[in-house]
Amino acid sequence: MRLGERQPRNPQIPPSNSAGCRWYGAPLKTALMDLLDRRFLFVVGKGGVGKTTVAAGLALEASRRGKKVLLALVNCKERVSQLLDTEPIGPDIINIGENLDAVNMTPDAALEEYGMMILKVRAVYNAVFKNKLVRAFLKGTPGLEAWSMLGKAFYHACPPKGDPDYDLVVLDAPATGHALDMLRVPFVIESVAPPGILRRDASRAVGMFRDPERSGAVLVTLPEYMPASETIDLADALTNELQIPVLQLVINRVLPVLFAEKERPVLEALPSQISEGEIRGLAIAGRRRVLRETVQAKAVRQVRSHIHAPCSELPIYRDLEDDRSVMDTLSKALLETM
Ligand SMILES: Nc1ncnc2c1ncn2[C@@H]1O[C@H](COP(=O)(O)OP(=O)(O)OP(=O)(O)O)[C@@H](O)[C@H]1O
Ligand SMILES: [Mg+2]
Repeated sequence: MRLGERQPRNPQIPPSNSAGCRWYGAPLKTALMDLLDRRFLFVVGKGGVGKTTVAAGLALEASRRGKKVLLALVNCKERVSQLLDTEPIGPDIINIGENLDAVNMTPDAALEEYGMMILKVRAVYNAVFKNKLVRAFLKGTPGLEAWSMLGKAFYHACPPKGDPDYDLVVLDAPATGHALDMLRVPFVIESVAPPGILRRDASRAVGMFRDPERSGAVLVTLPEYMPASETIDLADALTNELQIPVLQLVINRVLPVLFAEKERPVLEALPSQISEGEIRGLAIAGRRRVLRETVQAKAVRQVRSHIHAPCSELPIYRDLEDDRSVMDTLSKALLETM
């Protein structure tokens, strides 16, 4: 299979139920498992929807439950240290809390680690990987940088021998398209690479990523039209093309509902009935709010009718970046699913 090419639908996954809704959740047998009992979670979604916040929240809650956790960021402008009030997180793994380590992976550092894992001896590594031609070749090999980071995170959850370093690795994936490109890499390597270490690791990763008892995706979205439809497409690509189970849906930044459905038409019409005065401003504000709530209700319905994984909703937290205790509240709310 080439990058971007779609695999035929997995015959074990029903295309739709009698109501025409597609099922993206894990098989029923595993749906009752605790999300945090998996070994590897991908937190995925459109840019800016709250992936990093959710990944940090899940990692925090798992570590609080006594699991040894690695929060793996993918070469991003790191702001977890601000959220969790820790030292800045760079390409070397650091401890940021009890049972909780973090790393902000870069392709160069991850490739070096991978090279060292294979070649074992620093002098041999330097001779091979520091060679200009080899470096140019590696940089030009599609997917290798992405795989070096994904593969590194995978190794910490599932080494070829012995016990894993961590009970759980939470990967804060890049935004939608880049995340899919990254996740496709081991599947492509598995199908095209000649037998060897690269293919062996990719096959092991594919095995784990498709096993809902060990791994899966947490989809993050906003209660708005565009993010909702992009999330449905993402769930479709994960489930049908890659056969990666969707274990949970997180709808982030949900507004509290102030108006009942029957009050909405009244408020929508109100500004046109009030021509001037302070009260008109209030009527306009009320109408705006009603419109946002209407969009939110439709988007939530749309996304939940397609993605039948357990779902949690997060409100808008005022002091998320400034008050560390807000992350504790958020991380607990993440696990309260409907
Ligand atoms: N529930 C929430 N309440 C309030 N603010 C939030 C909430 N979730 C996320 N944010 C804020 O929204 C912004 C984007 O969140 P975050 O960085 O987690 O998104 P992202 O999906 O990782 O973005 P990117 O695609 O750029 O990596 C941040 O400033 C974050 O503090
Ligand atoms: Mg992010």
